[in-house]
Amino acid sequence: MKIKVLGSAAGGGFPQWNCNCSNCTAVRAKQPGFTARTQSSIAVSANGQDWLLVNASPDILQQLKSSPELQPARGPRDTGIVATMLMDAQIDHVTGLLMMREGKVPMELYCTGSVWEDLSTGLPLVSTLSHYCGVNWRPLPTDGQSAISIPQLPDIEFVPVPLISKAPPYSPNRYSPSVGDNVGLLITNKATGKTALYAPGLGEITPEFEAVMQSADVLLVDGTFWTEDEMVRLNFSKKMAADMGHLPQTGDNGGVEGGMIGVLNRMPASRKILIHINNTNPVLNELGPERALLTRHGIELAFDSMEIEL
Ligand code: MLT
Ligand code: MN
Ligand code: ZN
Repeated sequence: MKIKVLGSAAGGGFPQWNCNCSNCTAVRAKQPGFTARTQSSIAVSANGQDWLLVNASPDILQQLKSSPELQPARGPRDTGIVATMLMDAQIDHVTGLLMMREGKVPMELYCTGSVWEDLSTGLPLVSTLSHYCGVNWRPLPTDGQSAISIPQLPDIEFVPVPLISKAPPYSPNRYSPSVGDNVGLLITNKATGKTALYAPGLGEITPEFEAVMQSADVLLVDGTFWTEDEMVRLNFSKKMAADMGHLPQTGDNGGVEGGMIGVLNRMPASRKILIHINNTNPVLNELGPERALLTRHGIELAFDSMEIEL
């Protein structure tokens, strides 16, 4: 089984179109140690031909150009993407659906009831797409136990796991959360029993979610912010990381306890990878002290086109 990271940045990408933070300035200037990243998405396949797209980023066309394996070219119109699954209804995870409107059959869309509701109301992509390829909704269970199987990917098991993060700002659920606004995805290679857990938005580690993290061989989790007040300190936003549903890498006192690094330190996973990195995060400087600290804790940073074999 292969997981390909299509986009490793958070919403906005790296660099972000209107941002002149020190990271965005440095990557635009092609300074050593800075690598551009597109917005949040992965693809999963067992046979290298049939792929599940997990999240549909606004950068999907660029991501597909960089991923020839997702275009097997078996006919005049073709794609390796057999279905799309959404972890939430955030703009950076859903707007790529519009870029797939030319599909010749209705798209197979796996998402929870609350995500489907948001995409039918606040951001009505579903009704828009009904005038193009159309969408078949495949509801995701939210009990954290039930596996769903995707007919074209019989060798992989997928278990959506509800978690605490945030519904998008346009959603009525932003301030009155419901189960299924955000999920993580436990992906199992049935042939080897090996598992990966993907959770690009993860605001709080509940005991239930901690148990799922403990069970995974590979963790691909929320790496949005280094500190809780990152956006506030830069004067870019009034929102703290928690208001946006993201657990920062460091805790309140600047140490690793209370942050994602402390959580990952408790995990037996063989690979611990941060994904969905915001452009303000100092770990994007490959030569900086924050990145060195991650490395000392055995934590990797996802990059576009990273491949994980499991
Ligand atoms: C988030 O996860 O908070 C997003 O990246 C926000 C966005 O897409 O604008
Ligand atoms: Mn996001
Ligand atoms: Zn920036």
